[in-house]
Amino acid sequence: MPNIILLSGDGIGPEIMAEAGRVLDRVNQQHALGVSTEQCLIGGAAIDATGEPLPEETLTKAKNSDAVLLGAVGGPKWDSLPMDKRPEKGLLKIRAGMDLFANLRPALLYPELASASTLKEEVVSGLDLLIVRELIGGIYFGEPRGIEGEPGQRVGYNTDRYSEPEIERIGRIAFDAAMARDKKLCSVDKANVLEVTVLWREVMDRLGQEYPEVELSHMYVDNAAMQLVRAPKQFDVMVTGNLFGDILSDAAAMLTGSIGMLPSASLNSHKQGLYEPCHGSAPDIAGQDLANPLATILSVSMMLLHSLNAPKAAQAIEDAVKSVLASGLRTKDIATGASGEQIVGCRAMGEAVLKALN
Ligand code: IPM
Ligand code: MG
Repeated sequence: MPNIILLSGDGIGPEIMAEAGRVLDRVNQQHALGVSTEQCLIGGAAIDATGEPLPEETLTKAKNSDAVLLGAVGGPKWDSLPMDKRPEKGLLKIRAGMDLFANLRPALLYPELASASTLKEEVVSGLDLLIVRELIGGIYFGEPRGIEGEPGQRVGYNTDRYSEPEIERIGRIAFDAAMARDKKLCSVDKANVLEVTVLWREVMDRLGQEYPEVELSHMYVDNAAMQLVRAPKQFDVMVTGNLFGDILSDAAAMLTGSIGMLPSASLNSHKQGLYEPCHGSAPDIAGQDLANPLATILSVSMMLLHSLNAPKAAQAIEDAVKSVLASGLRTKDIATGASGEQIVGCRAMGEAVLKALN
């Protein structure tokens, strides 16, 4: 019996998770998945209750689960805490604690939302790209790190590092993903400046020989950022390290009209995963029924596909989301003012997906 841990987190987290939870319950019944769920604490909510952004109990339960569904963490209330006690640390710790090295961030443009993108319709229509981001290495986790020295003369530093095995395992995920798609892989680095990415490029080239059908290219990250907004449809799968992946995936998200549409999966080597929307906790709109729950609902779909081996249920959710968009329902973030649109809140959007599932 699959067991799923639900982590609502902060800001709009509880609102979007409520809708995603209802969708999960519904497909659980409809497809007889036998899923059981349990709520645990993470982020600011966990800090308030226990003093820790990732309580031991949450990590233990997450490790013993089949999958984790997460809302979002963070908010101004906790921004002045020391780095180690901040809500974001809870997220980084659960990623590392579950060994979730492979972060999949698909950026898919629903035809109905082509005009919601800030880019011209012809530039983004039909966009379907996948960013594969290494998630538990690189400069996010490299040692040494810190801030040292006398006031006024202090030095802050971090270390960007990747070992060959780390590069290879994320590379394999990306090549395999490319094989299942259009067989094009672009590896993003800064090999003109950073040794760590010289090694990255070398390992990707070596792996490429094992995947002769995949057309492998390399791109410097500055150019990749430019190409993403210039001609994003040239990309099929992109693979990159932790920091570049963080930045490029936000840019890719915006191509689709709203970051409120993008789900993500973070996987370890035994298909256990953490699923979360790409967006943050949006404290400015929290508690106002304004959030877009679709990225979290689509994260449930990714969870069913990648961790629960329930592709039919996953597809049912995707289809339901498509039909809701086709019917004209829009949360504020994806509204364009076009005729036929009806602006709804978070709750009503979730309700509409439930209806479409029937
Ligand atoms: C993301 C977020 C996180 C990250 C933050 C909240 C720590 O921006 O998932 O992209 O930087 O990885
Ligand atoms: Mg980010």
